[in-house]
Amino acid sequence: MNSQPESKAFLTPLSLLLVEDDRIDQMAFRHLVENEHLDYEYSIASSIHEAWAILHSRHIDIIIADYNLEDGTALDILTKHHDSPLIIVTGAGNESVAVQAMKAGAYDYLTKDIQHNYLKLIPIVVENAVKRRIAEGEAGELLRERIRREILQDFIRDMSHDLRTSLTTPGTSLYLLSRYVEDMKTLINAPNTHIAAIKQTALKIEDRIQLLKEYQKHLEQVILDMLEMVKIDDLSPFEMEIYDLNTLIERAIQPYKRRADRKGQDFTYTLHSEPLFVMASPDHLASIVRNLLKNAIDYTDHGGSITVKTERVNEEAVLSVIDTGVGIASQDLNRIFNRFYRVNSARTMSGAGSGLGLSIAKQLVDLHKGRIEVESVISEGSTFKVFLPLVSV
Ligand SMILES: Nc1ncnc2c1ncn2[C@@H]1O[C@H](COP(=O)(O)OP(=O)(O)OP(=O)(O)O)[C@@H](O)[C@H]1O
Ligand SMILES: [Mg+2]
Repeated sequence: MNSQPESKAFLTPLSLLLVEDDRIDQMAFRHLVENEHLDYEYSIASSIHEAWAILHSRHIDIIIADYNLEDGTALDILTKHHDSPLIIVTGAGNESVAVQAMKAGAYDYLTKDIQHNYLKLIPIVVENAVKRRIAEGEAGELLRERIRREILQDFIRDMSHDLRTSLTTPGTSLYLLSRYVEDMKTLINAPNTHIAAIKQTALKIEDRIQLLKEYQKHLEQVILDMLEMVKIDDLSPFEMEIYDLNTLIERAIQPYKRRADRKGQDFTYTLHSEPLFVMASPDHLASIVRNLLKNAIDYTDHGGSITVKTERVNEEAVLSVIDTGVGIASQDLNRIFNRFYRVNSARTMSGAGSGLGLSIAKQLVDLHKGRIEVESVISEGSTFKVFLPLVSV
């Protein structure tokens, strides 16, 4: 299959594939290329079967295929191979077939009109197909650029909103702190002030400082999450290697086991009895585990339980993180993977969340060509499952 980049697709000579079972037509094509000195590097296949072999072995710029072939029709090539533009050749008087092929995605068609030597039209039709493919490539690049810009704009809008909201409380706190300090000065300078009144104001100051510390931690976490998101964009598939999921998971969960213990939660893990080989980036897989386990622990009360499991289901390795925590309402389930989305109740719970954890986890799972699923019942708990394709070693 073609794996060359788009930009290299139309270097001359053009590589053409003619799929034609008629020997005379094949010969006529050869003569045309030689006599007209066309800058084509061509291959000829007599059947769809032969065409597949060629398409799988090298890059082909343009395919010219006779409609009726001994093992199928040119439409079979169209439905299975989308990389190279296809020009269809139909028998004279068979224009309806040409229309059908154009609807199915053929770039152009030629009618076998021997009298008018239809072969002479090949250079023009090929040139048109090349121009159209280049234009489509440019349009595709523009579209990709627009999508990139929209994602960035959404991200900046969400982030600004979150940061502005997060700065409201510190702003109020700073105002109150300066007032408490003024109160304190007045109390200290006033005659007959009771020490208890000073102590009371000092406590208020302490409370506000504590709140400011929490917000500072929260903002720090938002920035760390944002840096992690930027790093995800840089992750190239080449940084992935084959690893046993069990080994990676066992390593990644240790700090969280201690954290759950400190919170009085029962933490257990069961790993599949055999290695589960997957293509992975260990750092990013650890980040997926970290985000899921941090949530399981944060959104489960003291005394609850957290279970981590790996298993094999068909051709996939499955990692489950199960908790007996607060659960997530069904209307929130498909929004929790959005950036900055936090269920209302989570805002009041411990842990300075920024609402980025699950969106990071999902992006990383996507990069591993996997998927993430969640099931949850309010007040009973949640199960997050990560499915990764198994690879054979
Ligand atoms: N295991 C869970 N149990 C209950 N609610 C959960 C669980 N995991 C996620 N949630 C809900 O989904 C929301 C989004 O989770 P996410 O991890 O993206 O953000 P966060 O935990 O709020 O912040 P952070 O960016 O620090 O992870 C949480 O705020 C919480 O409401
Ligand atoms: Mg989280």
